[in-house]
Formats: sequence, structure tokens, C-alpha cells
Amino acid sequence: MIIIKSPREIELMKKAGEVVAKVFKALEGNIHPGMSTQDVADISEKVIRSNGAYPTFLNYSGYPGAVCVSVNDEIVHGIPSKKRILRDGDIVSVDVGATLGGYIGDACRTYPVGIVKESTLRLIEVTKQSFFEGCKFAKPGNRLGDISHAIQEYCEKNGYSLIREYTGHGVGSHLHEDPYVPNYGPAGSGPLLKEGMTLAIEPMVAEGHFAIRLMKDGWTAKTRDGKLSCHYENSIVITKDGYEILTKLKEEI
Ligand code: MF3
Ligand code: CO
Repeated sequence: MIIIKSPREIELMKKAGEVVAKVFKALEGNIHPGMSTQDVADISEKVIRSNGAYPTFLNYSGYPGAVCVSVNDEIVHGIPSKKRILRDGDIVSVDVGATLGGYIGDACRTYPVGIVKESTLRLIEVTKQSFFEGCKFAKPGNRLGDISHAIQEYCEKNGYSLIREYTGHGVGSHLHEDPYVPNYGPAGSGPLLKEGMTLAIEPMVAEGHFAIRLMKDGWTAKTRDGKLSCHYENSIVITKDGYEILTKLKEEI
């Protein structure tokens, strides 16, 4: 069952979403070679807690980190570690959840570490843009599959593939609510979009094949072929005539 949020609930989700955006603001320009994935998580957790929020992912289904930090061929759910040092040329995805006032904001950004290849920057850019290509269809009357299809089409047109095992999702007072939001599939399929639906849309884009491998830690998912994977996510709300991003700073338009 897809839960439609009231205007009051959407305001609360914006407050939680703003905390997530503040984390990215703190990380931007501060990711550098030599720091550990634990350092990235520590900065993130500090921002979350100093804003009176709680790191949603911590202890969620037993997940041990405050945020997820995934490097290079790691797709999602990388566990922060002091031993994992970022090197020049890496990419690092930071997936952040913040719970505030009983509601959740969920978003992810992928950052280049130091100087990265031109082709790597292109992967980051296409992944981000695919989110916005999908959101062009985020309005009442369209179907969820219209968003999914647009993401897939845009990424595949650019020579990349979409991870199948992990999807976006409804978000609200729970991290994962109905519906699943796949990053692939036929247009015109799935539930009708309605005003007040809140969705976390999160394309996970592989430079090579989309097949995955789950690590022994039970969380970290990697590409089977060892090629790069990139992740971009925002929580959004369907409005009367389109959508609004919830995981953004107040001053942003
Ligand atoms: N954005 C991810 C998701 O929606 C992060 C979840 S991490 C977990 O699945 F640890 F909380 F599962
Ligand atoms: Co999510």
C-alpha cells in the first residue's frame, strides 16, 4: 500500500531531507586521497546528529554504519572502515539517511577522489542526469514505470547498464515503503503516480555489466566484472503538477 503524505508530513520530510543535504554540503570539496571511508562516515554522522537527527541506516536490519560508503566497483551498502583508504582516481558514493521528527530523508551522491579519468567523470554525470531524466515523468497521471523506463533508456543510450537487485522505494516514516522504484522496465507499467506520494529514486549505474556479487560481510554489493558503479539518489514528493526534491537545502530552488 502506497502511503499518501499530508502537507504536514511533507513539511517534516523536508526538514529531514535538509539535514541530508547539509551532509553533502559538508562533504563537497572535502573528499580527498588519504582519508578513510570511516572518516567520510564520521563527518556525515556529525552533521546528522548536530542537527538533532538520527542516522537512519545505523542498525537498520543490523547495518553497522551511520551511512553507506561505497568505493569504485562497490555498488551499494559499503561499510565504513578505517582500513579502507581513498586513493587518487577513486570514486566514492555516500548514501545518507536522516530521521528527524519521525520522518526520513534518503539521498546519495558519488564524488571523485582527487583527479579521475574523463570517462569516470562522464559516468558520474550520466548517473546524476538519469535521475533528472526519470523525474521528467514524475507527475500525477503518469505511471511509476515511466520514471523507471526513462532512467534505463538514458543510461543505456550512454553505454551503461542498470543494477537490477537494488531499487528505489517509497520513503516516509519508514525507510522502505511501497512501492519499489526500479531503475529499469517498461513505460506505462506500475502504479499511477498521485500527489503526496514520496519516493526515493536512486539509479545505480554500472560502467560494464549489471551483474552483482555480494561480499562476505553480507552487505557490500560489487559489480561482478569489477568495473565501476555509480549511485545518485534523492527523496522526492509528487506535487499537483510535477515533483519537488525533499533532500535539498532550503535556499536551493
Ligand atoms: N539508500 C539505501 C536504500 O534505500 C540505503 C539503505 S542502507 C541500510 O536501501 F543499511 F539502511 F540498508
Ligand atoms: Co534509498
